[in-house]
Amino acid sequence: MPGRHAFQMIAVTLAAMCLSSCTHTNGKNAQTASQTKAAPPAAPWWEHALIYEVYPRSLQDSNGDGVGDLNGIIQRLDYLQHLGVNAIWLTPIYPSPLVDFGYDISNYEAIDPVYGSMNDFDHLIAAGKAHHIRVIMDMVMNHTSDKSPWFLESRSSRNNPKRDWYIWRDGKGPGIPPNNWMSLFGHSAWTYDAKTKQWYYHRFYSAQPDLNWRNPEVQKAMFDACRFWLDRGVAGFRLDAIPELFEDPQFRDAKVLPGKNVYGDPREDQSYVSNLPEVHDVMRKLRKLVDSYPGNRVLIGETYLPTIQDQLLWYGKNNDELQLPMDMQVGMINKLDANLFRTKINDAETQLNGNMPLFVFDNHDNIRSWDRYGDGKHNAAIARIIATILLTTRSTALMYYGEEIGMVTTPPKTKAQVQDPIGKLGWPKEKGRDGERTPMQWDSGKDAGFSTAAKTWLPIPPSYKTVNVQVESGQPDSLLNWYSKLIDLRKNNPALHDGQNIMVDNSDPNVLSYVRKNPGQGPSVLVAMNFTAQPQTVSYALQPQGIQGTHATALLADGGVASDVDLSHVVLPPFGVFVGQVQ
Ligand code: GLC
Repeated sequence: MPGRHAFQMIAVTLAAMCLSSCTHTNGKNAQTASQTKAAPPAAPWWEHALIYEVYPRSLQDSNGDGVGDLNGIIQRLDYLQHLGVNAIWLTPIYPSPLVDFGYDISNYEAIDPVYGSMNDFDHLIAAGKAHHIRVIMDMVMNHTSDKSPWFLESRSSRNNPKRDWYIWRDGKGPGIPPNNWMSLFGHSAWTYDAKTKQWYYHRFYSAQPDLNWRNPEVQKAMFDACRFWLDRGVAGFRLDAIPELFEDPQFRDAKVLPGKNVYGDPREDQSYVSNLPEVHDVMRKLRKLVDSYPGNRVLIGETYLPTIQDQLLWYGKNNDELQLPMDMQVGMINKLDANLFRTKINDAETQLNGNMPLFVFDNHDNIRSWDRYGDGKHNAAIARIIATILLTTRSTALMYYGEEIGMVTTPPKTKAQVQDPIGKLGWPKEKGRDGERTPMQWDSGKDAGFSTAAKTWLPIPPSYKTVNVQVESGQPDSLLNWYSKLIDLRKNNPALHDGQNIMVDNSDPNVLSYVRKNPGQGPSVLVAMNFTAQPQTVSYALQPQGIQGTHATALLADGGVASDVDLSHVVLPPFGVFVGQVQ
């Protein structure tokens, strides 16, 4: 397995800290008997959505320059619609010097020419609508590019009106930064500016100065940017690095923890730089803003959080913050451990006040789940298990391009090939994130059908000859068809669509099993997955869950599980999956 990435480290660091906990009682499921008699309001679209993350540089190149673009995405909408995608989240397409491939924005209200024009964007919104696919923008509110006109003004003099839009401090002495805070991308989080003789703070790369969210003008500028895109018809935002907005106002030194990170920096407690309570006031205001638009616009958070209690906080005390803070606790378990999955999925079911969790296994920052969960021998079967968890639990589902075909992580071979800043800084221990951002593999032809360029921005992985959409579409047993069937089931089966998620066979260390209980009179669904390389036999008595049936009929079964099973004796082959209907 390739080396660990900074983003897994964030999760690990956070897990090591004890952040605030809370209990809320005003959940949206806490209805009174009289309320339940009224017809339930229609669920907002995002509740049952399949959201597909598009890394625009890598989905489809339409103009032969080796980099994916907006017109390329439009060309692939038929595929996405056919797969059953309801919304795409585009990682940043704003003008950017591309130091962090778009996460360093220099203009929040325009499109970078490498991806196309504003006309192309409007065309994408319209074409998306025709395909029943909404478009979600990435919004980076924590920091801008150091080439943003805002920062250029801010750094121009100490008394520039925009000076306070960023975080400037005096050092502790010549060459000594204001405090010991380390950047998530390695080394000090402070960079010295010789002209004005002060240091600016950057949680990420030095080319990504943090905005000062204690200045109301910053909030206004950023909310104006959100309005700009909402007015153009986007369905909502994925809020980048959102727990990082605020820092300790006293700028106290962080407590140093034992050990060093991949950059050789000391490890630090994060409570002065991450997840400060002030961020929730901003989230409430932002929610009000998106709610003032019609059509159930959605706020998704990039929320690497250590506990379910922290997760709950991001929905808001009155469910008035994010609708979908990402749940990284399930998807980033990083080992096939049935007990851990059971606990984490059950936490999300029972401790989020009935709110929808948003499970995610893959994204542009982490080694692909194929490699994180695969054992090197049974990766294809294990990928089916991951897909099954993502698509049969009661959660909104977020997937990443290429996950459905089993794209593998293909890291650069030499330092000279690295594009990602964290790989440049962390090589060779940290190879960066290029490996999970390689071009989409559409077919076995030139550039895997992604481009016609002589050289694509990242190389096409050697796996493309056999791992691609065209080949897998023609193979009934392919991973792509497995995803496709699961997505159909999730949409059309009432129990999978709306049913409560109840864990069964609770002490089994080898098999993860749960029931999706039909909310009406119809059949429920039993999902069982063997997490081991040995056959496992399981016995279920579902009567305590109000399910009387003693047999299950397969809706989907993998690894040679029988199609009609006696629940008192279910044999699951190695890594076998069974999704069956029980009356
Ligand atoms: C988020 C993005 C990541 C980026 C970082 C800094 O974590 O997902 O790709 O590098 O923020 O903006």
